[in-house]
Amino acid sequence: MKLIQSAKKKESIRLAADLLRQGKLVVFPTETVYGLGADALNEAAVCHIFEAKKRPSFDPLIVHAFSAKQAFALAKNVPPAAKVLAKQFWPGPLTLVLPKKRIVPDVVTSGLETVALRVPAHPVARKLLREFGGPIAAPSANLFGRTSPTTAKHVQEDLGGSVSLILDGGRSAVGVESTVLKIENGAGVILRPGAVTAEDVSRWLPARRARERGSMESPGQMLSHYAPKTAMWMLAESGEKAISSISAAKAKSTGLITFSKKPVSGAFASVAVLSRRGNLEEAAAELFHAIRKLDKMGFRRLIAEPVPDTGIGIAINDRLRKAAGGKILH
Ligand code: TXA
Ligand code: MG
Repeated sequence: MKLIQSAKKKESIRLAADLLRQGKLVVFPTETVYGLGADALNEAAVCHIFEAKKRPSFDPLIVHAFSAKQAFALAKNVPPAAKVLAKQFWPGPLTLVLPKKRIVPDVVTSGLETVALRVPAHPVARKLLREFGGPIAAPSANLFGRTSPTTAKHVQEDLGGSVSLILDGGRSAVGVESTVLKIENGAGVILRPGAVTAEDVSRWLPARRARERGSMESPGQMLSHYAPKTAMWMLAESGEKAISSISAAKAKSTGLITFSKKPVSGAFASVAVLSRRGNLEEAAAELFHAIRKLDKMGFRRLIAEPVPDTGIGIAINDRLRKAAGGKILH
């Protein structure tokens, strides 16, 4: 059996659903990043996810459902605010943290009383969820702490040896993981920024970002996540002035990630431009690709320029900061 199979074939989707029923791991594309899936209600299967990713057991998983109805069947006391957001943003890149029902195994939620739920929009994820007929637990399909995968090939590099099937649905369009949001007293609190922004949410209910550092409101959101193997730094500021402050000697052994322009000065070993036209959505789709590409080139260091801190740019900067393990270059 081929490990990577085109999701265009109906048989592949059927096979994937069968494997899930047998308690096996199946990787599938979502619009954000690729997910490492298992039957969410099968405790042993979910344990395999943690083993394959080498993920600590205190980091809870997101449960994917075909519909809001199927998702909310796993939660209790669903507040009206959650229903409003589900109506507006599902299927899509939004994950809602809600009080869990007992049918959700504790391994899925790392023993928390809440469960993270999401209805993805990617047609292949939807086909698989419909064919399987139940909820699928799936973290991003990378080794723990490493860069999330946006292609089937990325997944093969990280997890090829430990999964039964990788459904290839092309490149993930959004490129950064879903927004994780909890509801507190009728207000939305963003635990992880993503394509659905606080501004988007605030059209429907009051919304704010959770306190940053030291907060364990969302376990697994610690610094040094999404890290490449190459040492990485983030520039304190964007623009040519900040980039040209990197010495020529240093630049020679540096892979640089910029937002929209190649630097006019400085001979960098390689430069990845996230979006030549300065489009944040395009930059997000390119982000993990660029980090993985530069990481493979074996440079001494990677340095990233921050992108405008607005819209999905907030999520991009969050991932860059974490990939750099919080190291800022002034
Ligand atoms: O876009 C995505 O969300 C992707 C695709 C595959 O759906 N999935 C993903 O999963 O990014 P993962 O496991 O890499 O990140 C899930 C994060 C956890 O690290 C944790 O911070 C948060 O979601 N989370 C999960 N359950 C939670 C809970 N009960 N309370 C608070 N945060 C939770
Ligand atoms: Mg992840």
